[in-house]
Amino acid sequence: MGTYNELYQQSISDPDSFWAKAAEDLHWYKKWNKVLDLDATPVPRWFEGAEINTCYNAVDRHVESGRGEQIALIYDSPITDQQRSISYNELQQQVASFAGVLKKHGANKGDRVIIYMPMIPEAAIAMLACARIGVIHSVVFGGFASNELATRIDDAKPDIIVSAYCGIEPGRVIEYKPLLDGAIEQASHKVSTCILKSRAQASCELIDGRDFDWDGEVAASEPADCVPVAATDPLYILYTSGTTGQPKGVIRDNGGHAVAMHWTMKNIYNVDAGDVYWAASDVGWVVGHSYIVYGPLLKGCTTIMYEGKPVGTPDPGAFWRVISEHGVKVLFTAPTAFRAIKKEDPDGEYLKKYDLSNMDALFLAGERCDPDTLFWARDKLQKPVIDHWWQTETGWAIAANPMGIEPMEIKPGSPTVSMPGYDVQVLSEEGEQMPAGDMGNIVIKLPMPPSCLPSLWGNDQRFIDAYLSKYQGYYLTGDAGFKDEDGYLWIMSRTDDVINVAGHRLSTGQMEEVLSGHADVAECAVIGVDDDLKGQLPLGLIVLKSGVEREEADIVKEVVQRVRDQIGPVAAFKIARIVKRLPKTRSGKLLRGTMVKIANGTEWKMPATIDDPAILDEISEALKALGYAK
Ligand code: COA
Ligand code: AMP
Repeated sequence: MGTYNELYQQSISDPDSFWAKAAEDLHWYKKWNKVLDLDATPVPRWFEGAEINTCYNAVDRHVESGRGEQIALIYDSPITDQQRSISYNELQQQVASFAGVLKKHGANKGDRVIIYMPMIPEAAIAMLACARIGVIHSVVFGGFASNELATRIDDAKPDIIVSAYCGIEPGRVIEYKPLLDGAIEQASHKVSTCILKSRAQASCELIDGRDFDWDGEVAASEPADCVPVAATDPLYILYTSGTTGQPKGVIRDNGGHAVAMHWTMKNIYNVDAGDVYWAASDVGWVVGHSYIVYGPLLKGCTTIMYEGKPVGTPDPGAFWRVISEHGVKVLFTAPTAFRAIKKEDPDGEYLKKYDLSNMDALFLAGERCDPDTLFWARDKLQKPVIDHWWQTETGWAIAANPMGIEPMEIKPGSPTVSMPGYDVQVLSEEGEQMPAGDMGNIVIKLPMPPSCLPSLWGNDQRFIDAYLSKYQGYYLTGDAGFKDEDGYLWIMSRTDDVINVAGHRLSTGQMEEVLSGHADVAECAVIGVDDDLKGQLPLGLIVLKSGVEREEADIVKEVVQRVRDQIGPVAAFKIARIVKRLPKTRSGKLLRGTMVKIANGTEWKMPATIDDPAILDEISEALKALGYAK
C-alpha cells in the first residue's frame, strides 16, 4: 500500500493516477474522459465525462454483492426510547419507494429538494432517494429558525420540502410545521409540495393539496431505480456560515465526492465493510452528510443515527452505551461533546459500566481540539484520540492522522499532517511562504482533491471572491495557523467573522445584522469569546440610538429572542451588554479582534490605528461586568 509519505507525494505529483486508482472501487456507468480537468472553471474538476450514481454505490451495490442482510443503519434514539435496525435490503427498498414518491411529485434530475428533518432514518432515506434520481438535496439543520429556512428556499429554489412533524430536544418538542409554514410564507420562491413524516410526539394539520403524509405516499409509491448522472453533477448543496447573513451554498459533486468518501473510510478511519461506524453529529452538518450517511454506506459499513445528546439522555454514559451495545469500531464527534461528558463525569465513572473492547479509535473535528480534552479522552478510553481538521467546503479531512495507511505520532493540539491531494501551505498577507513555526493564512494550492467544492450554488463570483481571489492559484481556508518542523499543521483560529460554538459554525456578522434590526440599536458588535464547554460563545455589545432610555435588561432580552427567532436556538446567543461606544480604527472598522483578546484575558496590544483608545477601557469594564476580561 505504501507509507503515508509515498502516497502523499504520489497524490501531489500524479493526482490522476492516485484518484483513478481510488475510483476503481466504485461502480461507474461510464468512465471519465479525464480524471482531472485542469481547464474547468472556476476550478479544475474531477472525473469529467464519467457517469455514476451515488445511491447505487452506497446501497444497491452492497445488496448485489451479498451484503443485503447486513445492517446498514441503526437508529438509536434515547430521547424517544426507540431503536430500529435497517438492513441494506430494507434500505434499498425504502429509498427506492421514497424516490418514487419524489418522482410522482414531479422531482426530476437537477431539481432541488430541501430536507428539514430531525435525526430519524427518514432523513437519510430522503437524501439517498434524491441521489437515486439525480435530484440535488439541501439539508437544513433542525436548530435553524424559519428565517434561515426561508433564505435557503430562496437560494436553492426547491419545489419540494421533506420534513417531519417535530424534532425533540431534551425537555421540549420542536414542532416543525409552524417553522415550515413560516418559512414558506416568508420566502419569495414558492414551494408547491411538502412531504411530512409523522411522529408520535406531535400532531399537525396538513394543508390540503400542498402537504402529504410520508407513510401514505410511500405505501402507494412506485419504486424508482437509480439513474446515471454526470460525475460533475451536484449531489447536494449544503449551506454554511460566511461573513454575512446570506449563507454560502457549498456544492458537492457526485463523482469526486463518492471517490473521496470511500477512500477516507479505510485510509483515514481504518474501517472496512461490515464495521460499525458512528458519527455523533447531525445530518444537518457536513459531518452528518459525510460520515453518518455517505462515507459509511459507500464503504458498506453499518452507520448509526443517534437522536440524543452526550449528556442528559439519560446520563454521561450515553455514548459508552451506544458504543458497547452496537459494537462501534470508530466514533467521530466534536470535542465539545467530550467536554460535556467530562464536566458531568470527570472521573469517568460511567465508563466502567460498559465494554468498549470493539472500539479502535476516537476521531474529533469541527473545532480546535484543546489538548486537555484530548488527554482526558485518551486517559479514560485508553484508545488513540485523533484530531482532524476539515470544513464544509472540503467534505473530508484536510489534515488527519491516516490510521489506515500508517498511524503517525500524535501531537496534541495538532490535527497531524496534510491528507493526500491537499497541498497545504501557510502564507503571509503578502503571499510569502511562512517559515516553520510561524503563523499565517492557511491555503490549499489548486487543484484541490475530489469532493472539494467546485463553486457556490448559483454564484461563481462569490466563490471566487471569498476563496480564490486573495492568492492567485490558492484556495483560502479562512483558518490561521502554522506548520511545524515535522510538517504537522496547527490550526489556531479563523481569520474571518466565523465562530465555532459547540462545533457549530456560526457567523457573528449575521448575528450583528439581526441585532441591528432592533428598533433601539444604533450599532453593535458580536464577538466570539472563549467558553469551557462550547469552545466559543457569541457575545453582543450594543450601542443604543440616542434618546432611547429603556431598561438594559429588557433590551438584552429582546435582542436575545430576536437571534433565537431569526437564526435559531443553535446560535446560542445569550450574552449582551449595552455600551456607549464601540472601538474602531480611524477608517471606521470595528476592532473585534482586540475586543476578543480583552474578553478572553489574553495579551493584547493597543492597535496603532485606533480612533479613541479610551473606548477600550469602557469595553473592558462592560466585559468585566459580564464575567469576562479577567
Ligand atoms: N433542533 C432544535 N433545537 C436545537 C437543535 C435541533 N436539532 N440542536 C440544538 N438545538 C438547541 C438546543 O436545544 C439549545 O437550545 P437552548 O438554548 O434552549 O438550550 C440550543 O440549540 C443550543 O444548542 P447546543 O449549542 O448544541 O447546546 P446544548 O446545551 O443543547 O448541548 C452539547 C451542548 C455540547 C451537549 C451539544 O452541542 C453537543 O452534543 N455537541 C456535540 C456534537 C455535535 O453535534 N457537533 C456538531 C458538528 S460535528
Ligand atoms: P464546518 O464547515 O462547520 O465544518 O467548520 C469548519 C471550521 O471549523 C474550520 O474552518 C475550522 O475553523 C474549524 N475546525 C474544524 N475542525 C477543526 C480542527 N480539527 N481543528 C481546528 N479547527 C477546526
